[in-house]
Amino acid sequence: MAKVALITGILGQDGPYLAELLLKNDYKVYGLMRRYSNPNFENLDYLGLTNKIEFVEGDLIDEASLMNIVKIIQPDELYNLAAQSFVGGSWHQAKLTTEINAFGVLYLLHALKTFSPTTRFYQASTSEMFGLQHVGGYQDETTPFHPRSPYGISKVYAYWMTVNFRESYGLFTCNGILFNHESPLRGIQFVTRKITDGVARIKAGLAKDLHLGNLEAKRDWGFAGDYVEAMHLMLQKSKPSDYVVGTGDNHSVQEFVELAFKYADIPDWKKYVVIDPRFKRPAEVPVLRAKAAKAEKILGWKAKLSFDKLVKMMVDADLKRYNAK
Ligand code: NAP
Ligand code: GDD
Repeated sequence: MAKVALITGILGQDGPYLAELLLKNDYKVYGLMRRYSNPNFENLDYLGLTNKIEFVEGDLIDEASLMNIVKIIQPDELYNLAAQSFVGGSWHQAKLTTEINAFGVLYLLHALKTFSPTTRFYQASTSEMFGLQHVGGYQDETTPFHPRSPYGISKVYAYWMTVNFRESYGLFTCNGILFNHESPLRGIQFVTRKITDGVARIKAGLAKDLHLGNLEAKRDWGFAGDYVEAMHLMLQKSKPSDYVVGTGDNHSVQEFVELAFKYADIPDWKKYVVIDPRFKRPAEVPVLRAKAAKAEKILGWKAKLSFDKLVKMMVDADLKRYNAK
């Protein structure tokens, strides 16, 4: 019989890539979305998947909606990707971020314990939990947490709740501690997509400049399409565990900018980039870099797409969107 998966956050960046992978593996895929007056299926459409998903309406801050959905579907696997995922916005909407990212996870786990205790559960944890902490510039599963934003703090709560339901009730729950991963489906507020979209607008004559914040921050950037494979692999193991997932390499925002302008064939990026204090954060995470040895050893997972190819893929996709090639 086909396995059944429920993905929350189906309309975001990772949801469609994960759905694509599961559909290829013959899963029946349910996607949880909020109720909208005007829903946006752009990312699912981009991969040609909108008609292949069974949508269910619910909200991570509405516990009863999650209880009902879990009771009815009783999925083999539940991937919790839904979140207020924008770090920068989490200072302005700290309570909402906490309600969705922290309590939403408690509600989901409670629903599983009550109605579907054999479901395997994936929690979208994040390198933002490490914040300031690293040993020699790397973070792995043993690195202590020092989150720097309401977003990071909400995800630490969810991480430990996920561990706690495993330890207290024997649920099969895994945390994927994923480092930054990007794609042409990345939300426009995140720095990589903001840069590639900005570069394409400049190329198309629709913008004169690109306003950015801290160019010195370093991130371990990989491709979302590679990372959803790690999520799936975690739930196929005989025992649940928590895994760091990243490339092991990092680059500054400035390096991303330089490459993006180069691939769009726009000389002298400095003429276009304006440093704008509005995009600086009250507390920054200066450097993230994964040591993903556990994922490589136990899951057999390794990032495939290089940084250069990722930047090129995103620039090309945005140039195409604006017909600016
Ligand atoms: P994303 O593009 O922001 O997608 C998040 C999705 O969650 C959106 O579709 C959003 O729905 C949905 N959502 C938000 N609040 C909700 C609520 N109250 N109820 C139901 N759905 C809600 O994020 P992503 O990049 O795909 O990331 C997926 C997950 O991985 C997130 O949990 C994120 O925090 C985590 N993560 C991401 C990265 C990364 O680099 N991408 C790294 C580590 C961890 P709307 O469409 O309605 O807004
Ligand atoms: N968004 C944004 N906009 N970031 C900027 C800008 C700007 O104009 N200028 C510089 N930056 C810097 C930020 O200060 C940060 O250091 C870095 O670029 C990356 O910012 P984002 O792309 O917004 O991502 P993030 O690292 O804060 O968070 C993403 O990755 C996390 C995993 O480490 C999100 O996807 C989170 O949901 C995820 O958990």
